Amino acid sequence: MQAPTNRGTEKLRVLEVSASGRVGDSVSRVLTQDLINALEHRYGSVDLTRRDLIDGVPFVNESWISANFTDSDERTVAHQAALAGSDGLVAELLEADVLVIGVPIYNFGVPAAFKAWIDMIARARLTFRYTENGPEGLLAGTKAYVIVSSGGVPVDSPADFATPYIRHVLGFIGITDVDIIAADQLNSKADESIDAARVRIAELVPASQPSDTRAA
Ligand SMILES: Cc1cc2nc3c(=O)[nH]c(=O)nc-3n(C[C@H](O)[C@H](O)[C@H](O)COP(=O)(O)O)c2cc1C
Repeated sequence: MQAPTNRGTEKLRVLEVSASGRVGDSVSRVLTQDLINALEHRYGSVDLTRRDLIDGVPFVNESWISANFTDSDERTVAHQAALAGSDGLVAELLEADVLVIGVPIYNFGVPAAFKAWIDMIARARLTFRYTENGPEGLLAGTKAYVIVSSGGVPVDSPADFATPYIRHVLGFIGITDVDIIAADQLNSKADESIDAARVRIAELVPASQPSDTRAA
């Protein structure tokens, strides 16, 4: 996988998306922070935006659908208000060079808050577009690291519907440069699994900075 690029701006822009319903003992939150620390160590400092889904995510509803499927130049003030939350989530996603996502497996899939976030950011003409050849994602330059935590289900096993979904939906919006970091089966082997995740983070984001360019 490629190292992230900063698209010529001063600092690497990182968007952290946290989907765990808990804060204190959340393994995925600890590991997303580890990954951000590794990025900061490698690139000096990063421009970090935190999107904590525990703070709430709007749901798709009738007014949102009506507004979303109205041409942007024909939208009323009410339409704009209905899309405001979604527009904000899209804007911070479009600004990011790197996405660092922490997602637990809940009931074999992604947490409802994460699905709600996906529903808010999958927007025709903003994050994907329709072409003669079918839909095309518009975030091809964005890199994603995804920490997937679980209690018992091994990541990418037949009972893990979260990881394939995350890969697919990120690909749908054009993000194909995705590294999955498993912190799984925590009920039976927490220390081993967290250690393995940390080794993987160190492999993916090595400490030394490339000598020729900040973000090769
Ligand atoms: C509501 C809920 C549903 C869960 N469902 C599953 C599951 O289907 N499979 C599994 O392996 N672990 C499941 N777990 C365990 C979590 O994936 C595990 O505790 C993980 O560490 C949570 O991430 P966190 O530490 O970042 O909060 C569930 C936990 C909760 C709270």
